[in-house]
Amino acid sequence: MTFHSRNKPVSLKHHWMPFTANRDFKASPRMISGASGLYYRTSDGDQILDMTAGLWCSSLGHGRPEIAAAVAEQFNEFDFAPSFNFGHTISFELADRLQTITPEGIDRFLFTGSGSESVDTALKIAYAYHHARGQSGRKRLIGRMRAYHGMGFGGLSVSGLTPNRTAFGSWLPSDHLRDTHDLSRNAFTRGLPAHGAEMADELEMLLKFHDPSTVAAVIVEPIAGAGGVLLPPKGYLKRLREICDAYGILLIFDEVITGFGRTGSAFAAQEFAVTPDIMTMAKGITAATVPMGAVGCTKAIYDTVVDASAGGIELFHGYTYSAHPLGCAAALACLDIYEAEGLYTRAGGPIGKALEDALHSMADLPGVIDVRNYGLVGAIEFKPRDKPGALGTALMKQCWAEGLMVRQIVDAIAVSPPLVVEDKHIAEFQDKFRRAAETALG
Ligand SMILES: Cc1ncc(COP(=O)(O)O)c(C=O)c1O
Repeated sequence: MTFHSRNKPVSLKHHWMPFTANRDFKASPRMISGASGLYYRTSDGDQILDMTAGLWCSSLGHGRPEIAAAVAEQFNEFDFAPSFNFGHTISFELADRLQTITPEGIDRFLFTGSGSESVDTALKIAYAYHHARGQSGRKRLIGRMRAYHGMGFGGLSVSGLTPNRTAFGSWLPSDHLRDTHDLSRNAFTRGLPAHGAEMADELEMLLKFHDPSTVAAVIVEPIAGAGGVLLPPKGYLKRLREICDAYGILLIFDEVITGFGRTGSAFAAQEFAVTPDIMTMAKGITAATVPMGAVGCTKAIYDTVVDASAGGIELFHGYTYSAHPLGCAAALACLDIYEAEGLYTRAGGPIGKALEDALHSMADLPGVIDVRNYGLVGAIEFKPRDKPGALGTALMKQCWAEGLMVRQIVDAIAVSPPLVVEDKHIAEFQDKFRRAAETALG
């Protein structure tokens, strides 16, 4: 089959697709040619319900004219200006706005172009902070098994997904907490699991093992997304916070997925009442319309780094596209929409409950070993068949054939619909997923 882009035929040879089985995809492509609201349109003209908000990022659905207008207006004013040594007011406006919604105390922001850049930036800010305090020996980072922190070498070092590291190595000194997924005690939990807060105590053990004075930071996703939607047991994050405080170690929350309303609060830090020292953001900050990310930290961290400098540049870090004006314009338009439509808290209301009920209604499908959810994110996990991931892949492809986009994570199917999802979309998901599962499971 020949595909066309802007009326010209395209080959499938030259684009090396990221995180994709290239040969398999190119033999049988799933090609998207349009999007509006909660639907993608395929090159065949079929409608696909977007139950993943793209890649956990299109939180406002697709094609919001307000965002297009804001980006176009900024483009016409000026498309780009550097933010090394020169400024533009829209990035200062965005920082002012962000501090109104981030947890109290997180009020200094450095902008990036993606989640991976945000993670690497957060790790470097942690290093810079300790360096500024005369503690340059603090270089070890503690991550968690099954964590996803993007694809930079920093993020990879703290990530806990082995296949992502196999060919590349793990170059920063790191260690990893156990993941919090415990099906023996918590299977089929609605909301936060009751059991497992004590897993956080492992942090103290790791710190003592490595010598706490060599550790810079602990980084966790409040809810691990790409590792399979793994929820923190009640009390777990608070315990991590206490241990970090006891040893002078920074706590970083990677809120690239959980930020901007996914859990029922603007950030998971607020939802779970635990404030980190540094937090990463991306995805929802512009609802994926323009690539952008940010790192927020405390004034104390900012002041420590800035005040330690004898003059000149204080933090030797930044990207060409840090504070890209089009990203800032998109972000401000998104914040307006989130606020005007009450989207930071919507996931915690009836729509989150409707998704919870829909997901748990799948518990009777053959081979389901867990259903879990929080706010507007959840997963259905199946017992592997043949080899790990085979069933998940078949299910993801069958969902596409039924007109449904879901995220496959080995043999779990994750959903994270746009925050503007309505009951009718959840009902459609329920029908299509059950049909797909019945076909794929045989
Ligand atoms: C928690 C988390 N951190 C970082 C990233 C990396 O973000 P990006 O793909 O924008 O680099 C992701 C992407 O899914 C993520 O889920």
